[in-house]
Amino acid sequence: MEQQRQVRSGIMTPVKGLMTREERLHPFSFFKTMRETSPVRYDSDRDTWDVFRYEDVYRVLSDHTTFSSNRNAIQNREDSASLIGMDPPQHTKFRNIVNRAFTPKRVADLAPRIEEITHELLDEAAGKGAIDLIEAFAGPLPVIVIAEILGIPREDRHLFKEWSDKLVESPDVQQADAYQASMMEKARVAQELGAYFKKQLDARRVNPGDDLLTVLLDAEVEGERLNEGQLLSFCLLLLVAGNETTTNLITNAVRAFTEQPELQTQLRKNPDLIPGAVEEALRYYSPVAAIPSRFATTDVELGGQMIKKGDQVVAWVASANRDEDKFPDADRFIVNRNPNAHLAFGWGIHFCLGAPLARLEGQIALQAIIERLPNIKLQADTELQPVTSTLVYAVKALPITFDT
Ligand code: HEM
Repeated sequence: MEQQRQVRSGIMTPVKGLMTREERLHPFSFFKTMRETSPVRYDSDRDTWDVFRYEDVYRVLSDHTTFSSNRNAIQNREDSASLIGMDPPQHTKFRNIVNRAFTPKRVADLAPRIEEITHELLDEAAGKGAIDLIEAFAGPLPVIVIAEILGIPREDRHLFKEWSDKLVESPDVQQADAYQASMMEKARVAQELGAYFKKQLDARRVNPGDDLLTVLLDAEVEGERLNEGQLLSFCLLLLVAGNETTTNLITNAVRAFTEQPELQTQLRKNPDLIPGAVEEALRYYSPVAAIPSRFATTDVELGGQMIKKGDQVVAWVASANRDEDKFPDADRFIVNRNPNAHLAFGWGIHFCLGAPLARLEGQIALQAIIERLPNIKLQADTELQPVTSTLVYAVKALPITFDT
């Protein structure tokens, strides 16, 4: 008889071995041990499989037929409303439509505006000599950029930022009351934001603009358009998937620069190395530590373990990206590492839609930081705090000093 394990959302339970502040700040020796001793491991507390080696993570992400992103697929239930949880053919159609909004040309055209926003933020920061990088720069930048791309009016930007911040908050599961409250607040914010986007979309139906919302409204593939529910859930996905991740890319890169100051000298001397440094930061301190939402559609063997149909599989990208079998000297930040086939943006059909934008923002931001904030150091006596979720690799704040 076919075993049907109940898929719980146990993924929020902390991963054993990544419980303390120190372990979450430096998870890489835990990942190494897992790759060596239990590369594909069942965790009964969370009722999930954890996958740690590059080869296996790559296989999970590449084979969407066996490892579906749609938790309903196993029971042949309804389609997912969100791109990230869809399977083909629904995913293919939807992705072809939204790809129109993220063509290389559309993204490249954004460069001058991203540069302007970057320098506006740094104009304020540069004279201060000491800032929290996230608060002063890495937090606002992606939110302002996506707000502009979507065509959100300037006067609503602060609202938009508040909503966006709330949506990605990762409350501490250990504190049940606070967790519950935060989840309810998120649901409320999602509703408010949904209503807001609906108003914005309605306005563009009457009065089209030159922005992403208009492109999404108009985009059509094989006679199909996005319906209103899909449009709204896609707008929310852009905020959830794009803002905190880009903030963490920039912050993690600068954290690495404070740990290895010679990188700052190297990059200042040779700005051509910046794109490579962005890729290496994505590999070395991967902002999305794990991709949690894959579900086996059939019994399947992986790394010597038998995964049952319906089981949840978590792909530990941050571990795969430190796998010595793939990356020689994996624990060293090598600015001009080549090849550098990291999995920080995922792989396969769900490969990050916003990767070209994230790369562009990362490159512009790091170049400007290196130019304008010389001699970056962590503020004295700083104890970095990891964010609460183990799925995200990031710190809550990055207090730095620099020469003015
Ligand atoms: C998908 C990482 C920035 C939009 C993904 C996935 C990863 C990822 C790992 C795959 C998820 C999966 O397979 O289940 C990142 C990182 C970023 C970043 C590390 C920044 C450094 C962005 C930005 C946007 C964006 C800026 C949009 C503005 C998306 C979307 C998907 C996605 C829409 C779903 C694609 C699909 O299901 O076909 N991202 N992302 N991301 N990302 Fe990103």
